[in-house]
Amino acid sequence: MGHIVIENLRKEYSNRRHFSRSPGSNPAEYREIIRVLDDINLEFEDGEMVSILGPSGCGKSTLLRIIAGFDKATSGSIRIDQKEVKGPSPNHIFVFQHSALLPWMTVRQNVGLGLRNIEDKARMEEKIKEYIEMVELGGFEHHYPYQLSGGMQRRAELARAIAANPDVLFMDEPFTGLDFLTHMRSREETVNVHEYIGKTILFVTHDIDDALIMGDRIVVLGGKPSRVKMERTLHFPRPRDFEKYPELGKLRSEVFLMLGVPYAV
Ligand SMILES: Nc1ncnc2c1ncn2[C@@H]1O[C@H](COP(=O)(O)OP(=O)(O)OP(=O)(O)O)[C@@H](O)[C@H]1O
Ligand SMILES: [Mg+2]
Repeated sequence: MGHIVIENLRKEYSNRRHFSRSPGSNPAEYREIIRVLDDINLEFEDGEMVSILGPSGCGKSTLLRIIAGFDKATSGSIRIDQKEVKGPSPNHIFVFQHSALLPWMTVRQNVGLGLRNIEDKARMEEKIKEYIEMVELGGFEHHYPYQLSGGMQRRAELARAIAANPDVLFMDEPFTGLDFLTHMRSREETVNVHEYIGKTILFVTHDIDDALIMGDRIVVLGGKPSRVKMERTLHFPRPRDFEKYPELGKLRSEVFLMLGVPYAV
Protein backbone atom coordinates (compact mmCIF):
# COMPACT_ATOMS: atom_id res chain seq x y z
CA MET A 1 0.00 0.00 0.00
CA GLY A 2 1.70 3.14 -1.17
CA HIS A 3 0.00 4.42 -4.30
CA ILE A 4 0.39 8.19 -4.58
CA VAL A 5 -1.55 10.58 -6.81
CA ILE A 6 -0.60 14.25 -7.02
CA GLU A 7 -2.97 16.56 -8.90
CA ASN A 8 -2.46 20.18 -9.91
CA LEU A 9 -0.21 20.86 -6.98
CA ARG A 10 0.93 24.40 -6.40
CA LYS A 11 2.99 25.74 -3.51
CA GLU A 12 3.56 29.37 -2.67
CA TYR A 13 5.45 30.82 0.25
CA SER A 14 4.70 34.23 1.56
CA ASN A 15 7.73 36.07 2.91
CA ARG A 16 7.63 39.25 4.97
CA ARG A 17 9.70 42.08 3.48
CA HIS A 18 10.42 45.57 4.81
CA PHE A 19 11.17 48.78 2.97
CA SER A 20 11.57 52.43 4.02
CA ARG A 21 9.00 54.94 2.73
CA SER A 22 11.15 57.94 3.63
CA PRO A 23 14.30 58.46 5.68
CA GLY A 24 13.58 58.27 9.38
CA SER A 25 10.10 56.74 9.08
CA ASN A 26 9.26 53.26 10.27
CA PRO A 27 9.78 50.73 7.53
CA ALA A 28 6.59 49.50 5.89
CA GLU A 29 5.94 45.83 5.53
CA TYR A 30 4.71 43.93 2.56
CA ARG A 31 4.29 40.32 1.68
CA GLU A 32 6.14 38.82 -1.18
CA ILE A 33 4.61 35.69 -2.66
CA ILE A 34 7.08 33.16 -4.02
CA ARG A 35 5.66 30.39 -6.15
CA VAL A 36 7.93 27.37 -5.72
CA LEU A 37 5.97 24.54 -7.36
CA ASP A 38 3.30 24.77 -10.04
CA ASP A 39 1.15 22.41 -12.05
CA ILE A 40 2.64 19.23 -10.58
CA ASN A 41 0.76 16.11 -11.70
CA LEU A 42 2.34 12.79 -10.83
CA GLU A 43 1.35 9.26 -10.00
CA PHE A 44 3.56 6.76 -8.20
CA GLU A 45 2.76 3.04 -8.13
CA ASP A 46 2.79 0.94 -5.01
CA GLY A 47 6.30 -0.41 -4.46
CA GLU A 48 7.97 1.90 -6.95
CA MET A 49 11.32 3.55 -6.25
CA VAL A 50 11.11 7.05 -7.70
CA SER A 51 14.10 9.36 -7.97
CA ILE A 52 13.20 13.04 -7.75
CA LEU A 53 15.92 15.17 -9.23
CA GLY A 54 16.42 18.90 -9.62
CA PRO A 55 18.75 21.81 -8.92
CA SER A 56 19.21 23.22 -5.43
CA GLY A 57 16.25 25.29 -4.31
CA CYS A 58 13.83 23.92 -6.93
CA GLY A 59 11.43 22.59 -4.31
CA LYS A 60 12.33 18.89 -3.96
CA SER A 61 12.23 18.89 -0.16
CA THR A 62 9.10 21.03 -0.25
CA LEU A 63 7.38 18.46 -2.49
CA LEU A 64 8.41 15.62 -0.19
CA ARG A 65 7.24 17.50 2.90
CA ILE A 66 3.86 18.14 1.28
CA ILE A 67 3.42 14.49 0.24
CA ALA A 68 4.40 13.41 3.77
CA GLY A 69 1.85 15.84 5.22
CA PHE A 70 4.36 18.03 7.07
CA ASP A 71 3.56 21.05 4.90
CA LYS A 72 0.42 22.16 3.08
CA ALA A 73 -0.01 22.74 -0.63
CA THR A 74 -1.40 26.13 -1.66
CA SER A 75 -3.74 24.30 -4.03
CA GLY A 76 -4.15 20.87 -5.56
CA SER A 77 -4.45 17.50 -3.97
CA ILE A 78 -2.35 14.58 -2.77
CA ARG A 79 -3.87 11.16 -2.24
CA ILE A 80 -2.11 8.14 -0.81
CA ASP A 81 -4.12 4.95 -1.36
CA GLN A 82 -7.16 7.07 -2.26
CA LYS A 83 -6.99 9.04 0.98
CA GLU A 84 -6.42 12.75 0.90
CA VAL A 85 -3.23 13.69 2.79
CA LYS A 86 -4.21 16.14 5.52
CA GLY A 87 -1.26 15.83 7.87
CA PRO A 88 1.56 13.50 8.85
CA SER A 89 0.54 9.88 9.25
CA PRO A 90 2.34 7.16 11.19
CA ASN A 91 2.03 4.98 8.08
CA HIS A 92 4.66 7.10 6.37
CA ILE A 93 8.08 7.84 7.69
CA PHE A 94 10.84 10.22 6.83
CA VAL A 95 14.53 9.49 6.61
CA PHE A 96 15.93 12.91 7.31
CA GLN A 97 18.76 14.61 5.49
CA HIS A 98 20.82 14.30 8.65
CA SER A 99 21.09 11.53 11.16
CA ALA A 100 17.90 11.10 13.15
CA LEU A 101 19.15 8.38 15.49
CA LEU A 102 18.56 8.99 19.17
CA PRO A 103 22.09 9.43 20.55
CA TRP A 104 21.31 8.01 23.99
CA MET A 105 20.08 4.72 22.53
CA THR A 106 22.07 1.83 21.09
CA VAL A 107 21.58 0.63 17.50
CA ARG A 108 19.33 -2.16 18.82
CA GLN A 109 17.20 0.27 20.80
CA ASN A 110 16.97 2.75 17.92
CA VAL A 111 15.82 0.06 15.48
CA GLY A 112 13.43 -1.29 18.12
CA LEU A 113 11.66 2.09 18.32
CA GLY A 114 9.62 1.27 15.24
CA LEU A 115 8.67 -2.16 16.62
CA ARG A 116 7.30 -1.13 19.98
CA ASN A 117 3.84 -2.38 19.14
CA ILE A 118 5.00 -6.00 18.82
CA GLU A 119 3.93 -7.62 22.08
CA ASP A 120 5.85 -10.86 21.77
CA LYS A 121 9.34 -9.85 22.99
CA ALA A 122 11.12 -12.82 21.40
CA ARG A 123 9.55 -11.99 18.04
CA MET A 124 10.51 -8.34 18.45
CA GLU A 125 14.16 -9.29 19.12
CA GLU A 126 14.10 -11.56 16.09
CA LYS A 127 12.80 -8.70 13.88
CA ILE A 128 15.38 -6.25 15.25
CA LYS A 129 18.10 -8.79 14.44
CA GLU A 130 16.71 -9.28 10.92
CA TYR A 131 16.73 -5.55 10.13
CA ILE A 132 20.16 -4.98 11.65
CA GLU A 133 21.56 -7.81 9.57
CA MET A 134 19.81 -6.54 6.46
CA VAL A 135 21.89 -3.36 6.64
CA GLU A 136 24.99 -5.33 7.63
CA LEU A 137 25.35 -3.98 11.12
CA GLY A 138 25.50 -7.39 12.83
CA GLY A 139 27.91 -7.12 15.79
CA PHE A 140 27.15 -3.43 16.34
CA GLU A 141 23.81 -3.88 18.13
CA HIS A 142 25.10 -2.46 21.40
CA HIS A 143 27.01 0.46 19.94
CA TYR A 144 25.78 4.02 20.38
CA PRO A 145 25.50 6.27 17.30
CA TYR A 146 28.68 8.19 18.23
CA GLN A 147 30.60 4.90 18.07
CA LEU A 148 29.59 4.34 14.43
CA SER A 149 31.02 5.79 11.22
CA GLY A 150 28.87 8.15 9.16
CA GLY A 151 27.94 5.37 6.73
CA MET A 152 27.02 2.99 9.53
CA GLN A 153 24.82 5.65 11.10
CA ARG A 154 22.91 6.04 7.82
CA ARG A 155 22.47 2.29 7.64
CA ALA A 156 21.17 2.13 11.21
CA GLU A 157 18.78 4.94 10.30
CA LEU A 158 17.57 2.97 7.29
CA ALA A 159 17.03 -0.13 9.48
CA ARG A 160 15.05 2.01 11.91
CA ALA A 161 12.91 3.42 9.13
CA ILE A 162 12.05 0.06 7.57
CA ALA A 163 11.42 -1.54 10.96
CA ALA A 164 8.54 0.90 11.31
CA ASN A 165 7.02 -0.80 8.24
CA PRO A 166 5.93 2.37 6.45
CA ASP A 167 3.82 2.33 3.27
CA VAL A 168 6.05 5.00 1.80
CA LEU A 169 9.64 5.74 2.66
CA PHE A 170 10.82 9.31 2.10
CA MET A 171 14.54 9.76 1.61
CA ASP A 172 15.78 13.31 1.24
CA GLU A 173 19.40 13.26 0.07
CA PRO A 174 20.29 10.45 2.44
CA PHE A 175 23.88 10.13 1.19
CA THR A 176 24.96 13.74 1.75
CA GLY A 177 28.35 13.99 3.41
CA LEU A 178 29.42 10.39 2.79
CA ASP A 179 32.75 9.63 1.19
CA PHE A 180 32.75 8.20 -2.33
CA LEU A 181 33.03 4.50 -1.45
CA THR A 182 30.49 4.69 1.36
CA HIS A 183 28.18 6.55 -1.00
CA MET A 184 28.47 3.75 -3.60
CA ARG A 185 27.84 1.11 -0.97
CA SER A 186 24.85 2.96 0.49
CA ARG A 187 23.39 3.24 -3.00
CA GLU A 188 23.63 -0.52 -3.47
CA GLU A 189 22.23 -1.21 0.00
CA THR A 190 19.25 1.06 -0.56
CA VAL A 191 18.46 -0.76 -3.83
CA ASN A 192 18.73 -4.12 -2.04
CA VAL A 193 16.56 -2.98 0.84
CA HIS A 194 13.97 -1.73 -1.65
CA GLU A 195 13.95 -5.09 -3.42
CA TYR A 196 13.53 -6.83 -0.08
CA ILE A 197 10.77 -4.71 1.44
CA GLY A 198 8.99 -3.78 -1.83
CA LYS A 199 7.67 -0.46 -0.49
CA THR A 200 7.23 2.79 -2.34
CA ILE A 201 10.37 4.90 -1.92
CA LEU A 202 10.58 8.56 -2.88
CA PHE A 203 14.23 9.39 -3.16
CA VAL A 204 15.24 13.03 -3.50
CA THR A 205 18.66 13.81 -4.85
CA HIS A 206 20.63 16.25 -6.96
CA ASP A 207 22.98 13.46 -7.96
CA ILE A 208 22.07 12.47 -11.53
CA ASP A 209 23.89 9.12 -11.35
CA ASP A 210 22.13 8.11 -8.11
CA ALA A 211 18.80 8.95 -9.70
CA LEU A 212 19.47 6.89 -12.84
CA ILE A 213 21.16 3.92 -11.20
CA MET A 214 18.60 3.53 -8.42
CA GLY A 215 15.19 4.62 -9.69
CA ASP A 216 12.41 2.60 -11.30
CA ARG A 217 11.42 6.00 -12.55
CA ILE A 218 12.98 9.44 -12.60
CA VAL A 219 11.21 12.76 -12.25
CA VAL A 220 13.17 15.93 -13.03
CA LEU A 221 11.93 19.23 -11.62
CA GLY A 222 13.06 22.62 -12.81
CA GLY A 223 12.15 26.13 -13.85
CA LYS A 224 10.74 29.06 -11.90
CA PRO A 225 8.34 28.02 -10.52
CA SER A 226 9.34 24.38 -10.74
CA ARG A 227 7.33 22.04 -12.91
CA VAL A 228 7.93 18.47 -14.03
CA LYS A 229 10.45 18.82 -16.84
CA MET A 230 10.96 15.14 -17.49
CA GLU A 231 9.46 11.88 -16.34
CA ARG A 232 10.88 8.53 -17.50
CA THR A 233 10.45 4.93 -16.50
CA LEU A 234 13.81 3.16 -16.25
CA HIS A 235 13.40 -0.41 -17.47
CA PHE A 236 17.11 -1.23 -17.21
CA PRO A 237 17.82 -4.39 -15.19
CA ARG A 238 20.05 -4.06 -12.14
CA PRO A 239 22.90 -3.84 -11.41
CA ARG A 240 23.09 -0.94 -13.84
CA ASP A 241 26.00 0.91 -15.24
CA PHE A 242 26.31 3.45 -18.00
CA GLU A 243 28.66 1.38 -20.16
CA LYS A 244 26.42 -1.67 -20.08
CA TYR A 245 23.38 0.35 -21.13
CA PRO A 246 24.24 3.03 -23.72
CA GLU A 247 20.58 4.22 -23.62
CA LEU A 248 21.05 5.03 -19.94
CA GLY A 249 24.22 6.96 -20.82
CA LYS A 250 22.27 8.95 -23.42
CA LEU A 251 19.57 9.74 -20.90
CA ARG A 252 22.28 10.86 -18.47
CA SER A 253 23.61 13.38 -21.02
CA GLU A 254 20.05 14.57 -21.65
CA VAL A 255 19.46 15.17 -17.93
CA PHE A 256 22.81 16.97 -17.59
CA LEU A 257 21.76 19.26 -20.43
CA MET A 258 18.36 19.82 -18.90
CA LEU A 259 20.00 20.88 -15.65
CA GLY A 260 22.19 23.36 -17.46
CA VAL A 261 25.44 21.42 -17.79
CA PRO A 262 26.34 21.09 -21.48
CA TYR A 263 28.02 17.66 -21.25
CA ALA A 264 28.30 14.78 -18.83
CA VAL A 265 31.72 14.61 -17.17
N1 LIG B 1 9.31 27.79 5.06
C1 LIG B 1 9.65 28.47 3.96
N2 LIG B 1 9.35 29.78 3.84
C2 LIG B 1 9.66 30.47 2.74
N3 LIG B 1 10.31 29.94 1.68
C3 LIG B 1 10.67 28.65 1.75
C4 LIG B 1 10.36 27.84 2.90
N4 LIG B 1 10.83 26.59 2.68
C5 LIG B 1 11.40 26.62 1.45
N5 LIG B 1 11.31 27.85 0.90
C6 LIG B 1 11.79 28.24 -0.44
O1 LIG B 1 11.30 27.30 -1.37
C7 LIG B 1 12.30 26.99 -2.34
C8 LIG B 1 12.46 25.49 -2.44
O2 LIG B 1 13.09 25.00 -1.25
P1 LIG B 1 13.43 23.45 -1.04
O3 LIG B 1 14.11 23.32 0.27
O4 LIG B 1 12.21 22.65 -1.26
O5 LIG B 1 14.47 23.18 -2.23
P2 LIG B 1 15.31 21.87 -2.58
O6 LIG B 1 15.03 21.54 -3.99
O7 LIG B 1 15.05 20.81 -1.57
O8 LIG B 1 16.80 22.40 -2.46
P3 LIG B 1 18.14 21.62 -1.97
O9 LIG B 1 18.55 20.75 -3.13
O10 LIG B 1 19.11 22.72 -1.76
O11 LIG B 1 17.82 20.85 -0.73
C9 LIG B 1 13.54 27.76 -1.96
O12 LIG B 1 13.62 28.89 -2.78
C10 LIG B 1 13.33 28.13 -0.53
O13 LIG B 1 13.89 29.38 -0.26
MG1 LIG C 1 16.21 19.85 -0.12
